[in-house]
Amino acid sequence: MKRTKIIHLFDAKTSPGSVLIKGWVKTRRDSKTFSFIEVNDGSCLANIQIIADDSLDNYDVVKTLSTGSSVAVTGLLRESPGQGQTWEIAASAIHIYDIAPEAYPLQKKRHSDEFLRTIGHLRPRTNKYGAVFRIRSELCHAIHKFFHDRGFTYIHTPILTGSDCEGAGDLFRVTALNLENLPKKEGKTDYSLDFFGKPANLTVSGQLEAELLALALGDVYTFGPTFRAENSNTARHMAEFWMIEPEMAFCDLEDDMSHAEEFIKNLIVHAMDHCARDLDLFANFVDKNLMKTLENIVSAEFVRLPYTDAVDIVKQSGHKFEFDIEFGKDLQTEHERYLAEEHFKKPVVIYNYPKTIKPFYMRVNDDGSTVAAMDVLVPRIGEIIGGSQREERLSILERRMEETGMNKEDYWWFLDSRRYGTVPHSGYGLGFERLIMLITGIANIRDVIPFPRTPGNIEF
Ligand code: 4AD
Ligand code: MG
Repeated sequence: MKRTKIIHLFDAKTSPGSVLIKGWVKTRRDSKTFSFIEVNDGSCLANIQIIADDSLDNYDVVKTLSTGSSVAVTGLLRESPGQGQTWEIAASAIHIYDIAPEAYPLQKKRHSDEFLRTIGHLRPRTNKYGAVFRIRSELCHAIHKFFHDRGFTYIHTPILTGSDCEGAGDLFRVTALNLENLPKKEGKTDYSLDFFGKPANLTVSGQLEAELLALALGDVYTFGPTFRAENSNTARHMAEFWMIEPEMAFCDLEDDMSHAEEFIKNLIVHAMDHCARDLDLFANFVDKNLMKTLENIVSAEFVRLPYTDAVDIVKQSGHKFEFDIEFGKDLQTEHERYLAEEHFKKPVVIYNYPKTIKPFYMRVNDDGSTVAAMDVLVPRIGEIIGGSQREERLSILERRMEETGMNKEDYWWFLDSRRYGTVPHSGYGLGFERLIMLITGIANIRDVIPFPRTPGNIEF
């Protein structure tokens, strides 16, 4: 039997009549001869009120329905005379799938995010987490639409790879070898006997492969899970996160920055247009300034600032930071947030970073010491996007690989792309979970993905 979604009752022009709703009980209130039961089916934030009276065959059992119980309600949908809801269902039959015992951990009260993380299997049933996961879904759709509308080709890049795109070494090794009895050759693990005949990892980024496809198809994007074994237990890092990576042929750093700005604004507008009810929850209960922050981002022209100027501003701020900053050091989250949140009070794109703190693939600027990198920083979060114009000149790319200690032979295919019809090209990566943090006001990245993977946590 097809499930009728509550959202249809609210959003479609459903004419009152006989309906069937299947979902979970939120609350029940009884009076002498009838009960009010709030049911939610997960399709939207609002519950529907069910009126169950003693004419029901199983009213005795209906009167014991507890929070978390699962039901199918048949009845007449009608305008509600009561306050607080527009529609209600006068039940003609209630089928009970399961009555949740009193030990159901999600009783009607506010639970802390920390507690809810320990019951990740149930937290999607709370209003807040239901809303987050619906927004995630809606934004995935918006992302594909954004690129599709602009003629981009959606590509799939591998999850198993033999390369290290960012060169940062935070890789999860994948092996089919018996870890209890590793084959050895000259004292080292002999990967020639492993599944792929050489070491393999989970990808940290689909960029290198996306570049190859951009040099064939023009504008492409990949959107998939990426994995990093960096042991940073912060509110902004996870070991498994989703990244959207556009890669554009014949595109320079300027255009790359403009594209990133347009992308972020488009996604925020989409969320405001399509997730208004769910966003209301976050604006009311999570971040009172949420809508103002989002509106500011949409209407602001993002600041563009060379890295050296950013360092100067941070240094001269008179602000006390935990970490020092000087030319050649990476900006820390506290510096990034200071710039976006306090100094400019809007998103900032920092560009032309020292080459020593950026990966091998970024295009070396004429000064020889900086690269055409860009990071987009937003209030509350700091870095949300990292990107660059790519080094398309073979000899310089080879030199950069040598400087950064990479094995050129392993990347022969990447270097080939600079041998045969190389062109200027650029791209960036948007961290999907950081985007959801921005749009919902949620402060901890563990709370914007159903099942977060962080150091020491792989439950569920
Ligand atoms: O700046 P990153 O490392 O850039 C790249 O991976 C490039 N290859 C992208 C490209 O040019 N195609 O990562 C991009 C974004 C960051 O700005 C951040 O939003 C997110 O990915 N990110 C993480 N999100 C959650 N947990 C982590 N551990 C993250 N590391 C990066
Ligand atoms: Mg980065």
